[in-house]
Amino acid sequence: MVLEKGTSDTLTVKIEKLSNLGLGIAKNDGYVIFVPNTCPGDTVRVKITKKNKNYSNAELIEIIEPSVNRVEPFCKMQKVCGACQLQFIDYDAQLKYKKEIVRDAMRSIFSKDAEVRDVIPSPLVKEYRHKIQYPIGQTKDSKRLLAGYYKTGSHELVNIKYCPIQPEYCDIIIDYIRTKGQELNVSGYDEKTGKGELRHVVIRTSNANKKNLIVLVVNSDRVSKSTKNLAESIYKDLDNINGIAVNFNNKKTNLILGEKTELIEGCDYIEENLCDKTFKVGAKTFFQVNPPSADNIFRYVKKYICDNFEKPSILDAYAGITAFGICLSDIASKVVSIEEVKESVDLAADIIKNNNITNVELHQGDAGRFLSNETTLGRQFHVTVLDPPRKGCSPNSLDYALKLTKDKIIYVSCNPATLARDLKYLCENGAKVEYIQPFDMFPHTYHIENVAIIDLKNICTD
Ligand SMILES: C[S@@+](CC[C@H](N)C(=O)[O-])C[C@H]1O[C@@H](n2cnc3c(N)ncnc32)[C@H](O)[C@@H]1O
Repeated sequence: MVLEKGTSDTLTVKIEKLSNLGLGIAKNDGYVIFVPNTCPGDTVRVKITKKNKNYSNAELIEIIEPSVNRVEPFCKMQKVCGACQLQFIDYDAQLKYKKEIVRDAMRSIFSKDAEVRDVIPSPLVKEYRHKIQYPIGQTKDSKRLLAGYYKTGSHELVNIKYCPIQPEYCDIIIDYIRTKGQELNVSGYDEKTGKGELRHVVIRTSNANKKNLIVLVVNSDRVSKSTKNLAESIYKDLDNINGIAVNFNNKKTNLILGEKTELIEGCDYIEENLCDKTFKVGAKTFFQVNPPSADNIFRYVKKYICDNFEKPSILDAYAGITAFGICLSDIASKVVSIEEVKESVDLAADIIKNNNITNVELHQGDAGRFLSNETTLGRQFHVTVLDPPRKGCSPNSLDYALKLTKDKIIYVSCNPATLARDLKYLCENGAKVEYIQPFDMFPHTYHIENVAIIDLKNICTD
């Protein structure tokens, strides 16, 4: 079937699978069509909105025959908010489709034979998200503060009063900020004009003790009287606030947090548990947003290493607050970690000191540069944990990781596409992927976390 550019035709198609972005995929005469808000098994009428060289984008017009895996979303805002793309799909089916997403990434980029195991579910499917970052705006006439998420594919702010995937208390905090902020004349930010004071509210909630760290991100380089009043009122009026800080970000940027943060009340961190160790998590530190699911991952990696090694030396690269290194320290002879964010490394140093851990060596800086220096020094590790950001590792970093590691690389990834790319590179250089274990860290979204176990036994190291 030939689709003309700009056509307004509607088509009836059957959705076959989900794309890596959670869009339904249909085929028409071999031609791929992506349709949001659809589920494999749906028969739907769609309208083509954009025709590209190899595929088309379409919008859903009507569900003719729903998939057996469709359910009623538990959040009324699901259709407008854009954060939970898959909430209308039964949770067990979400897990099945996410495994397929990982498999498809492996097949198309790395190898069709890669073993992808069943997805380990999240222990919580509601109230699991322990970090929220709400953009703040305000209404034109009444100057009411708005806080929520952007509509899918737009910068239109959806004012969210209730979000069932984050701790219920966050709704209370946000509601208080909306009301009290307006009362104290705090203005909301306007992206278009770059005017207005309050840009974002970031809340980190501890799963361990339910305390909250609140960060008010302002479009300024100093704390105004109104922001200070708001921060002090929050601390005084609300329960379970561990600390409240102001972060300064007056640049035209998509980054939420600016460089500098000033603590107004309480402590500038919350405490969180992983693998029976207590961590401090600050405003700018990376920490997995779903702590119970993260705990599953850390215990899984620890068990794998325990079952296969006795007191190995471990390199923890892209370490954040050295969560892997610290969790693994009691089964390792030595742990060396590298992380670029100073605040995270400082917090790791604190945690190590408080827990009397003596075998963890911390380094701050760029992972690639550090790995390169280490190869010149000739140090080697039994196991390397690589846990890079979504963009994955550079070929150079992978080369150094191969040189520095004697036995196994455990690659933890939040992006199946870059994981597949990097596994391909490692295997072209002699490594062998044992298997990939997916974990559902983000129920109702298309995101999926993976742990790949990579064996280096057969690499010749001259
Ligand atoms: C996905 S997080 C993993 C953190 C940690 N392993 C954990 O599970 O909590 C990636 C980390 O890599 C750090 N990072 C990003 N690019 C880096 C680089 N070039 N060198 C060193 N660290 C980097 C980020 O600051 C972040 O803490």
